[in-house]
Amino acid sequence: MVSPMNKKIEIIDLRVAYAGKSALKGISFDIFENEILGIIGPAQSGKTTLLKAINRTLDFTTGAEVDGTIKVDGEDIATVKNVYELRRKIGMVAPLPVGLPLSIYDNVAFAPRMAGVRDSKKLDEIVERSLVQAALWDEVKDRLQSLGTKLSGGQQQRLTIARALSHEPEILCLDEFSIAIDPVTTMRIEEVLKSLRSQMTIILVTNLVQQAKRLANRTAFLFNGELVELDKTEVVFSESPSEQKTYEYVNGIFG
Ligand SMILES: Nc1ncnc2c1ncn2[C@@H]1O[C@H](COP(=O)(O)OP(=O)(O)O)[C@@H](O)[C@H]1O
Ligand SMILES: [Mg+2]
Repeated sequence: MVSPMNKKIEIIDLRVAYAGKSALKGISFDIFENEILGIIGPAQSGKTTLLKAINRTLDFTTGAEVDGTIKVDGEDIATVKNVYELRRKIGMVAPLPVGLPLSIYDNVAFAPRMAGVRDSKKLDEIVERSLVQAALWDEVKDRLQSLGTKLSGGQQQRLTIARALSHEPEILCLDEFSIAIDPVTTMRIEEVLKSLRSQMTIILVTNLVQQAKRLANRTAFLFNGELVELDKTEVVFSESPSEQKTYEYVNGIFG
């Protein structure tokens, strides 16, 4: 068991610009192993950009320029030998479910197959484990061969989470996962995240500040490409965070 204060990710003076327009303006902080780090902030603050920088999917955005340093497990991600290995280490859940037009089983088995797993018993195990972890197994275990896209919205989002978990990521990033699902499913997934915390590092970008309050050990407030405040969640949500702006955002005075 690793100490909860081990640095999993170090972000040092990270700057991102799109075609010369600044989206992240030099932010620095660490993310620890086995914490849930909440990231809150109004639209256009740079939250999604930050996640894309961490798994280097910004590589695919033409015109995106990245400056500064991100280290994962102490290694500078700009110079990692194998960027696929880096991306496998990081599970990413997008705001809307992104199922493939495949069966439930094949959706979850997709990434492991891409990584070369061929043994059907091993694939069965991975599919079951991932669906159990995503709290979807009981609902789908009798129809693994039916289309993933036939599931309800909330089930599809849990399928997306199962897919992200299929390659046993050490870091799980969620980008506003509850934007298109009902509150009951949201609470269900929140329980899933709580149970995953002991096994991985979770970065929870959320448009719902109360979600960060419920789940996050620490919360970062991003605004306009700057890190306004990062502290223990109870401090960020207290009557006296360090910055007045944090108080105003958390209490719905703007944003
Ligand atoms: N692919 C892109 N091309 C150009 N500008 C972008 C792109 N993605 C994001 N931006 C801009 O970068 C800023 C931060 O966006 P984003 O990271 O999506 O913020 P958030 O997730 O907090 O809403 C915004 O001004 C947005 O318009
Ligand atoms: Mg976003």
